[in-house]
Amino acid sequence: MGNPWFETVAEAQRRAKKRLPKSVYAALLAGSERGLTVEDNVGAFGELGFAPHVAGLPPERDLATTVMGQSISLPVVISPTGVQAVHPDGEVAVARAAAARGTAMGLSSFASKPIEEVVAANPQTFFQVYWVGTKDRMIQRMDRARAAGAVGLIATLDWSFSMGRDWGSPVIPEKMDLKAMIKVAPEGIVRPRWLLEYAKTKRLPDLTTPNLAAPGEDPPTFFGAYGEWMQTPLPTWGDVAWLREQWGGPFMLKGVSRVDDAKRAVDAGVTAISVSNHGGNNLDTTPATIRALPAVAQAIGGQIEVLLDGGVRRGSDVVKAVALGARAVMIGRAYLWGLAANGQAGVENVLDILRGGIDSALLGLGHSSIHDLSPGDIVVPPGFERRLGE
Ligand SMILES: Cc1cc2nc3c(=O)[nH]c(=O)nc-3n(C[C@H](O)[C@H](O)[C@H](O)COP(=O)(O)O)c2cc1C
Repeated sequence: MGNPWFETVAEAQRRAKKRLPKSVYAALLAGSERGLTVEDNVGAFGELGFAPHVAGLPPERDLATTVMGQSISLPVVISPTGVQAVHPDGEVAVARAAAARGTAMGLSSFASKPIEEVVAANPQTFFQVYWVGTKDRMIQRMDRARAAGAVGLIATLDWSFSMGRDWGSPVIPEKMDLKAMIKVAPEGIVRPRWLLEYAKTKRLPDLTTPNLAAPGEDPPTFFGAYGEWMQTPLPTWGDVAWLREQWGGPFMLKGVSRVDDAKRAVDAGVTAISVSNHGGNNLDTTPATIRALPAVAQAIGGQIEVLLDGGVRRGSDVVKAVALGARAVMIGRAYLWGLAANGQAGVENVLDILRGGIDSALLGLGHSSIHDLSPGDIVVPPGFERRLGE
């Protein structure tokens, strides 16, 4: 085997593609409809420029900050992703990597590992929920997360059950039984390293969602849980305030892209929002999150914490987001590719790449702390000042 270390997130993606069965890689790539939002999330960062200094640069740079009361060593947090079968250690490996690199972990309610194991690996864990099931069941899940030691709740509401991608959707079996294994075997056989990781654990990839089970219940399958979600009456702003009250601790609303929604989130009493379009998996043609950020940050950044997720692949992307008003960013695909490429070490590798990139951008911009970044550091072309929702 060659050097397991990789230099960029793009290289982690190439290795993930080579290593994962086709349908697992496709599930991780995701996107919806024409994939324009996924593309724009990444591409828009490239439209922003830097205005670097040349001398008098700071010898040391401080990257530390806090998010929802948690001290983190760089302004990058793990975004919750409900992706299964990427690696047998799944979210536990991601949690360990985040802890080793001094940052917090968002755990999806569609994750493959129980929250108790994830919190044991990283006490800085935020549990993510969708609006799924009855209020009693939601309370049960929050009680369990609180008892497990989760230090914050992320409520993700930007999901409109969009169906279909022009490049096709992977077929994900309901359950990894023998029948399903025989069906996906040809994909697995050409991916021996992935197969070997699972063979070592003597377990098949588990397509259940343990964090959505009621006490004493078997974990629902991924699709069983998705069905319950589709049948749940849609939440109102009053429901958002209810959820926050029931949780009673640090609370993030994830998926905001409009200024008017951001203001309503403030009224609902949230601690933080993430300007997000679900990584381009929700309504396709929603503009990139970095385009929506400046107006949202300007409108409510003084009142609550504003994060951003979507398209972050480099440390310089993080610096651009922080300069335009984000307290920190969350990453999705970048760490999933790292996990696929090299397990826990691959996720650490991705966090190290981002740390290095943030540090060198700070150096070039002449700042000794990420807290000194401002819009003046960035060359912003027209299009980023557009106010969505006003
Ligand atoms: C495959 C996949 C699964 C995801 N699952 C969830 C999820 O279960 N809960 C959630 O809040 N967001 C989920 N997201 C969205 C991410 O948390 C995040 O918003 C997005 O990935 C950020 O964009 P990026 O992948 O370009 O970094 C998922 C994203 C991907 C790509």
